[in-house]
Amino acid sequence: MFITLEGIEGSGKTTQMATISRFLEGSGHACVLTKEPGGTPIGEKIRAILLDPEHRQLDAMAELLLYTADRAQHVSQQIKPALDAGKTVICDRFYDSTIVYQGAARGINAGVIRELNRLVLYNVAPDITFLLDLPPEVGLSRAWNEIRSGGRDDSESRFEREKLLFHEKVRQGYLQLAAAEPQRFRIIDASMPARDVGKAIISELQQFMET
Ligand code: TMP
Repeated sequence: MFITLEGIEGSGKTTQMATISRFLEGSGHACVLTKEPGGTPIGEKIRAILLDPEHRQLDAMAELLLYTADRAQHVSQQIKPALDAGKTVICDRFYDSTIVYQGAARGINAGVIRELNRLVLYNVAPDITFLLDLPPEVGLSRAWNEIRSGGRDDSESRFEREKLLFHEKVRQGYLQLAAAEPQRFRIIDASMPARDVGKAIISELQQFMET
């Protein structure tokens, strides 16, 4: 099973990854937890380029190609071998992030992005995607609190520095994707306390696994 989590900055994906894996491991599923960008050693280097706040000049197409390069490495080295071995992969962001950040928010043609994705997916696709949805003002303020308290490194804050409008486009892009693929997406209200978000996710996951 391949599970992905999506959402704007500060939506709490990292916390919920752990909740999902505890639940699944508890019911006998071997889980691999991973993320994009940066799910492999090579990907970690690509991540550092992508998230460095000093890289304000990074060209939108160069950005898209770097995310795609990270995904090619990640799918071939990590995700596909784990799925082939019968493991459950839980991934913090996947191709939906590219469609909304580089497509809906940066304005690159969605067809171009989908074609690039297709080249690097090796037929891998998420079975279920949790969209942790909340207003960008709330998400960004949480994300900045985390950076200020040292929970997240300032050297990875390039996207947090984007304008509120950018994050609003990301949120709307996600909601559109979820509306277009209701069988795959589960929209979760991420403005609730983390405990309640976790309960909502597990309840949806249980239902999904029973069908
Ligand atoms: P995160 O690992 O803390 O979620 O940060 C990753 C950042 O990269 C986040 O701001 C979203 C962005 N991103 C894209 O713009 N496109 C992508 O394809 C992916 C995977 C992430």
